[in-house]
Parts: sequence; structure tokens; C-alpha cells
Amino acid sequence: MILVTGGLGYIGSHTCVALQRAGHALTIVDNLANSKIGVLERIRALGGGSVEFHRADLRDGPALAAAFERHPVEAVIHFAGYKAVGESVAKPLEYYDNNIGGTFVLLDTMARFSVHRIVFSSSATVYGDPQRLPLTEDHPLGAVNPYGRTKQFIESILTDVAAGTPGFRHATLRYFNPMGAHPSGRLGEDPRGIPNNLFPYITQVAIGRLQKLRVFGNDYDTVDGTGVRDFIHVMDLAEGHVAALRYLLEKDRSITANLGTGRGNSVLEVVGAFERVTGIRIPHEFAPRRPGDVASCYADVSRAFAELGWKTKLGIEDMCRDGWAWQSANPQGYPD
Ligand code: NAD
Ligand code: UFG
Repeated sequence: MILVTGGLGYIGSHTCVALQRAGHALTIVDNLANSKIGVLERIRALGGGSVEFHRADLRDGPALAAAFERHPVEAVIHFAGYKAVGESVAKPLEYYDNNIGGTFVLLDTMARFSVHRIVFSSSATVYGDPQRLPLTEDHPLGAVNPYGRTKQFIESILTDVAAGTPGFRHATLRYFNPMGAHPSGRLGEDPRGIPNNLFPYITQVAIGRLQKLRVFGNDYDTVDGTGVRDFIHVMDLAEGHVAALRYLLEKDRSITANLGTGRGNSVLEVVGAFERVTGIRIPHEFAPRRPGDVASCYADVSRAFAELGWKTKLGIEDMCRDGWAWQSANPQGYPD
């Protein structure tokens, strides 16, 4: 049994489908802080395996322990946390409390139940302003906002716990920019309020919920002046977790690895790909740079390939096609 925290969220839900397809039975723990319960039935339908659900907040030790009590837990995949950079600047204590506090209770509960394997959702944001590209895992860390610092602290906590606990192993996965959806159009990204991220903003313009995209900055030193990111299909990302879990269970070593494609695409390239794939025009205008943004960010993915045997299979047009399949079938996201 694999215990998945935050399994009803965007990346967690897609990963739960991939994990079931790889033969794993799952227990999901989620407090629905940023997800809806209807996701569960879709995860079950698409994955076809066994999925238990516990509605619980990670910071509630006894409720979390109840999820560990039912079946022996082989490993944990830990997605649960808050993830909005701007909100983390406005509400740092909530971010430290939920992300670090939640991880603390989780690790403590794992220790009580002698569970020694964890896959953790870190982020490319821990690298801060890139000093060189592509980003390798040994690039200096320097998160520049409270959200990123929670990820950096949790990485250090995992390293410390591994050093002090014989047999404890972690796979720390630094995601680049996840995008797209399950190809069925049944699972996808359903942000609350106006999206902060590029791709859900584009799909909401396409569906008519928003009027036009604002492209933040057209004077960066990039191919066309707009920001460049390493966009990764959420299903490729999901498979990266299956590979990381296999690594922990078979190789019995810890690892920190980037999960990206190794290639950058500019904001205008994403808009162009979306228009090509869907035939829908995305009205857009240039706006000033967004504070805190970097010009370019993309991964060196050689470690993930060498150690995990994993690399991405899907490209930007697949992400656009599948993301649009989701948005067009679910114009308002998941039902309440
Ligand atoms: P998400 O918000 O869609 O999913 C997170 C899930 O965790 C939600 O279902 C939420 O209800 C749950 N949750 C939050 N706090 C909880 C708590 N205290 N107890 C129980 N459940 C809780 O986010 P996502 O995009 O799926 O991201 C998953 C993880 O990946 C996060 O840790 C995020 O920081 C990290 N990450 C995301 C991105 C991205 O661009 N989406 C990039 C890098 C890293
Ligand atoms: N952008 C726009 N208009 C928008 C939204 C975004 O032009 O309405 C641009 C941004 O300026 C940037 C690019 O699109 O150049 C990507 O922006 P996102 O907000 O989609 O993604 P970020 O790279 O800023 O950050 C995301 C997550 C972080 C995570 C990081 C990992 O939000 O949490 O990827 O690389 F840490």
C-alpha cells in the first residue's frame, strides 16, 4: 500500500492513476483545502485499482495515524501543501505551518509506523535565480520567496532525517513547470479563482472565462523576448513518480532529481502551440515583467534518466491538446 498525501490535487490525481496502472494499491490523505471530492471517483475509474480515501489534515496527528493503521504502508508520496508564490509572500506563517508543519507530522507518523520511504514534491523554485543553464541538481539553492523556502527547508529536513535514521530513504523530485492533463479529459488542473500560472490562464481564455492573456515581459534575453520555462506534461511527471518509487523500493538509495524535459519554451511558443493544436486564437497583450520572474529556467535531466531510467515522452503540443480536452469538457472545472 502506497500512502499519497495531497492525492486529490492536480499532480497527485494524475500520479494516482499512473500508480494504480503500475499495480500499486493506494491510500489517499487529503483535506480538500485545494481540491474537490469528485476527483476521487475519476481517479478510481481511470486507474482501475484499489484506492482508499481519508479526509484528514496532515497536521492532525491522530487523524493521519488512522490512515496508517488500516494497512501496512510501503512508502509515502507527499504532495500535500500550499503552492501559490504570491500568497506565500502575503501569508508566510500559513505556508510554514502547512508545508513544514504538515511534513513534520507526516515524518513523525512515518517513524512511529516504521515507514522509511518517501517521495517528496520539491520544485525548481529552490534554485532561485539561475546562475547557469540548464539547471543541474548541484546548482546552488537560493529560494527567493516563502513558498520556495518551505521546499528548501523540507529538503534539508529529509536529508537530516536520512542521516539520522538507518534505512530511511527519500526521493526528492524537483518539478519544473507541469502542464496539460490526462488525455481522457477527465482529470486536469482546476485552480481556484483567477489562475496565476500560464497554461490554465490560456485555457480559461480559450473557454471564454477570461478575456485576454497578459504576457508578462517581452524584453527578456530569450528567443522572442518572453519568459522561457521547461514545461512538462503532467502524465510524464506522474510516470516520474512511479520510477522514483521503484528506485526507492528496489535500489534502496536516496536521490534528488530534476523532473523536466530538458528543453525550454517561451510564453509565445506555448500560445502559438495552443492556437495551432486547437484552432482557437488566444488574444494577448504585453504587460510589464512580473516581479520575481526569471528570464529562463530549464532542467538538466540527465540524472533522472541515468538513475531512474525515466525521461519525458510528450511535447508541448500534447500538453496543449490534453489540457484543452480537459478544459473544454469541464469548462468550470470539477463540479462542487
Ligand atoms: P494542488 O494544490 O493541486 O494539490 C495539493 C493537494 O494537497 C490538494 O488536494 C490539497 O487539498 C492538499 N492539501 C494541502 N494541504 C494539506 C494538508 N495540510 N493536509 C492534507 N491535504 C492537504 O497542487 P499540485 O499542483 O498538485 O502540487 C502538488 C505538489 O507539487 C505541491 O507540494 C506543490 O508545491 C508541488 N509543486 C507544484 C508545482 C506546480 O506548478 N503545480 C511545481 C512544483 C512543485
Ligand atoms: N506568464 C504570463 N502571463 C500569465 C501567467 C504567466 O506571461 O498570466 C508567464 C510568466 O511571466 C512566466 C511564464 O509565463 O514567464 C510561466 O509562469 P508560471 O506562473 O506558469 O510559472 P512559474 O515558472 O512562474 O512558476 C511555476 C510554479 C512555481 C514553481 C515553478 C517551478 O508556479 O510554484 O513553476 O519552475 F516553483
